[in-house]
Amino acid sequence: MLKGKKIVIGISGSIAAYKSTFLVRALKKLQAEVKVVMTSSACDFITPLTLSTVSCNPVQSEFYDKNSGDWTNHVDLGMWADLIVIAPASANTLSKMANGFCDNLLVATYLSAKCPVWFAPAMDLDMYKHPSTVKNIELLIQYGNRCIEPKYGELASGLIGKGRMEEPDAIAELISNYFFQKRDFTSKHVIVTAGPTYETFDPVRFIGNNSSGKMGIAIADEFASRGAIVTLVCGPSSVKCHSETVNRIDVVSASEMFEEVMLKKSDFDIAVMAAAVADYRPKQVFLNKIKKKDENLNIEFIRTQDILKSLGKEKRQDQILIGFAMETENELENASKKLISKNADLVVLNSLTEKGAGFKLDTNKVTFVYPENKFIEFELKQKSGVANDIANAVKKLLND
Ligand code: CTP
Repeated sequence: MLKGKKIVIGISGSIAAYKSTFLVRALKKLQAEVKVVMTSSACDFITPLTLSTVSCNPVQSEFYDKNSGDWTNHVDLGMWADLIVIAPASANTLSKMANGFCDNLLVATYLSAKCPVWFAPAMDLDMYKHPSTVKNIELLIQYGNRCIEPKYGELASGLIGKGRMEEPDAIAELISNYFFQKRDFTSKHVIVTAGPTYETFDPVRFIGNNSSGKMGIAIADEFASRGAIVTLVCGPSSVKCHSETVNRIDVVSASEMFEEVMLKKSDFDIAVMAAAVADYRPKQVFLNKIKKKDENLNIEFIRTQDILKSLGKEKRQDQILIGFAMETENELENASKKLISKNADLVVLNSLTEKGAGFKLDTNKVTFVYPENKFIEFELKQKSGVANDIANAVKKLLND
């Protein structure tokens, strides 16, 4: 039940707008309070009267009432909501949201929102795949919003592909789970590493890598939303946490990350090492910028400490340790070796060969590698979904 929960449904111009009626109905059945904001093009697809009838509230679509001249307070609406779900979110609305182009009440409400905002894209497959739409969705996720991924199937154009808005009942279930998520890690101490490390060698240069931090941050958010006390030690990353309760410690280098993690080595119940930590750092850090010369430049690299391995060496029976492995050859074999050499309970093998998986993307495809050559392969999914699978696997390990 969603009794007492206040939800704003934003509807933009897409044929999937008709599905929003069923979404509002499903939420009302769960006893949520629902208010609907529509763009003017959404009103071409479905009438405000239908939505005001099912939501039991007036529908808002203009900045002011043309008859009375009264102003619609989008700030109040944004403050009223516990959650805003924009479904369907058309390519046009996603673009406006991502760029702060505030020419309608829906985008104004989004920009004023204090609560979490989710969006469910719906559009033709080529629009969905277009680099500008991909970029806008990435930006919105980076700003802390959640994308309810569209499904693959028959589209209004008659074409078949990815772009169908998620089904209303499934969205209602996500909303319900969000408000009443099981808090099965309450009082557990979790430490997560995320992102790249930068190894500086002069005042303007460093050696880094392509990690965005998205996977580790999704893991920190997942444990926090399930009641854990989470410390995130994060290398340079512009990605923000959804959860306000995550204690985020920003670091730059592998040695800073090592120091921060080691401070917690006896206090954690669960450690998930998702960072792409540099294995080597320049031996010498030059005080002044290295000037170019005719001859080649040789920089000597020395090993950094292996954080996962160090935790593994001192791991107690009651602690769970999870590592990641990024492999390009003999993937399962190498990941199994890492599991043993670093004394981890589980290694999450990332695939770089799969389309849609890897650095910077919002999706990932992983295989869980356990002792005794036990493997579980997962399908390609959002990094938040992978984080959910990891937390579920930890739950099982704790109970075993
Ligand atoms: N890791 C770590 N500290 C390091 C290097 C790696 O904690 N200095 C952790 C990563 O966070 C990850 C796991 O070890 O959980 C695997 O990292 P990866 O780079 O794939 O493996 P390496 O052990 O560094 O081996 P290689 O680079 O040879 O594959």
